[in-house]
Amino acid sequence: MSAPSAPPLPAKINLADPHLRAVVMDTLKAIWKYVVPYRGRFILSTVLGILSGLFTSVMIIGFQLIFSLVLNGKTTTLGQVIELPIFGVINPAELLGVASDTPVGIFGVAIACAFIPVLIFLRGFLGYLSSYMQAWVTSKVVYQIRNDAFGSIMRQSPGYFNNARIGELMQTVISQTGVVQRNAMMLIQTVVQRPVTIIGILVMLFASDWIFTLMSLVIFPACLYPIIRLGKRVRKVGAKEEYDSRALMASMQESFAGIRLVKSYAREGYEMQRFDRSNASMTHNMVRWAKALELIGPIVETVASFGIAAGLVYAWQRGITAEKFFVLVMALTQIYPPLKELSRVQLFLQKTTIAAGMVFEILNRTPDIQDAPDATVIGRTSGAVTFKNITFFYRDRDDVQKEMPAVKDIDLQLDPGKFYALVGRSGAGKSTLFSLLLRFYDPDAGAVLLDGTDIRSCTQDSLRANIGIVSQDTFLFHDTIRENIRYGRLDATEAEIIAAAKKAHAHEFIEQISNGYDAIAGEGGCNLSGGQKQRISIARAILRDAPVLLLDEATSALDTESEKIIQEAIHNLSAGKTVVAIAHRLSTILEADQIIVMEQGCILDRGTHAELLSRNAMYQNLYNLQFSTENKEES
Ligand SMILES: Nc1ncnc2c1ncn2[C@@H]1O[C@H](COP(=O)(O)OP(=O)(O)OP(=O)(O)O)[C@@H](O)[C@H]1O
Ligand SMILES: [Mg+2]
Repeated sequence: MSAPSAPPLPAKINLADPHLRAVVMDTLKAIWKYVVPYRGRFILSTVLGILSGLFTSVMIIGFQLIFSLVLNGKTTTLGQVIELPIFGVINPAELLGVASDTPVGIFGVAIACAFIPVLIFLRGFLGYLSSYMQAWVTSKVVYQIRNDAFGSIMRQSPGYFNNARIGELMQTVISQTGVVQRNAMMLIQTVVQRPVTIIGILVMLFASDWIFTLMSLVIFPACLYPIIRLGKRVRKVGAKEEYDSRALMASMQESFAGIRLVKSYAREGYEMQRFDRSNASMTHNMVRWAKALELIGPIVETVASFGIAAGLVYAWQRGITAEKFFVLVMALTQIYPPLKELSRVQLFLQKTTIAAGMVFEILNRTPDIQDAPDATVIGRTSGAVTFKNITFFYRDRDDVQKEMPAVKDIDLQLDPGKFYALVGRSGAGKSTLFSLLLRFYDPDAGAVLLDGTDIRSCTQDSLRANIGIVSQDTFLFHDTIRENIRYGRLDATEAEIIAAAKKAHAHEFIEQISNGYDAIAGEGGCNLSGGQKQRISIARAILRDAPVLLLDEATSALDTESEKIIQEAIHNLSAGKTVVAIAHRLSTILEADQIIVMEQGCILDRGTHAELLSRNAMYQNLYNLQFSTENKEES
């Protein structure tokens, strides 16, 4: 039972390290599997991305033509301004059937200028289409990953949740998948699209003026240096932010879930301090991240401005026209944004790998308890339960088993239709027996049989369909009372729900609540008393109508009146079923056909109340401690 919170990767990913490179590749492969169903759109968005990347060069060439046409007042050959390596000298004027050096009038100028918004629009539109497609694909991918992650968590055995922090799981399912979405796809796009833009512009620049281009390329490494320096800092801080946000979520979730405890101990201030610590650390890192990230731009621009100044001197010396110089500088500035994005690739790769690591750890986790490949679906059993030589150890989050077994050498035969009371000191192993019967855990030795079949050979669903449970702490969902009862059997009709509520003695009080069965129970719903909640959970179990019933009686004493009502409700529920009750009330042990006494994980004795009282010292002791005060009250 490994915990889901161990950081899967170091904060710094050095792609030169073959192990880490393998991790990154595995992550990308795993993400790719999710992209495959949408590969058509994905490829389309990538192609559009490449086109929009290339279009930057097209646009600049277009501008160059327009500028020289408008500013010189006559048509020019393309060769006069640019010589493309592949196309050679192209003469746009000739393409249009106009001789070179034809003077252009206001009409020509207007048409030429009208092409500026057209070019800008086309580039923007291509970019938009590509981004939209990309967003479409990533949303689908994350939708699927999120569903799968939640499904995977739902399939884990209860042991997993003993060792996991719920807030962290929530944060992983909600936020980390989002990080994967935003970054991973952008990465793929960036890696494909940006180089195309850069190469396109460079080719164009070289064709236009190779000396100028070469000069400016000398400037680039100078620009890259601060990016590399700052990039390191950004990466370190960025990775930390992911862990911080998990801690924040976990701390918040716990404070909310335990709000009653927080309040009753007046620990709001303490909780706020705890939250503040995680929050402050996250904020601090966010600021550092932004500081480093945003510093890159101005620094690069400043360095680049030296280049422009130098370029201007060169232009003066070589007699380059103003419009040509303007276009050259524009081309250079167009190189910068894609270059900046490329420089961030490693940063995003890192964030993505860390986030994806958390997500895929959940996705790929095989539940500790799984249906056997040849598991059978069992129908309704008679409810005969056998514990055959059961020994079981709990395990900690590192899967190390505890020194002492929680239950040891348990041999127990429970006959259909009988009522058994389980008694024993706290920690004797009573709840553990329930967990083993429900197959929340598999025993380390022995087997649990239901109607003679090992429960490991049937599906968990069909096994649990045979078991109803009413536990100590009643859990109600934030939903109507009706739906909370229906949870026992989802296809139950209204009449069946009401019949169950009547048997559970819940109908009377439900009718009295405003909205009745439509009233919202559970978190944020109408406030029900402990006894009322229990009766709803009994109605739920009645509706389930399973042949085996597990009762974990509430230790908290109810007043005699509600005690009686609940006793009756349980009596109705128990009819014709194999009942195992962890008993805390005298009335329950008196009703039992047989009482099973547990001590330190073993079965000490079994018999009726009278038999045990006369022969078992341990039982007498327990009785005096747990049940006799109640006895005195009743008699
Ligand atoms: N999730 C768990 N992880 C590790 N150890 C556990 C876990 N649950 C129970 N144990 C240990 O197993 C032993 C049996 O616990 P169990 O909950 O079955 O006792 P119990 O008889 O139900 O006690 P109580 O009357 O207090 O509910 C105890 O020593 C307990 O510390
Ligand atoms: Mg217990």
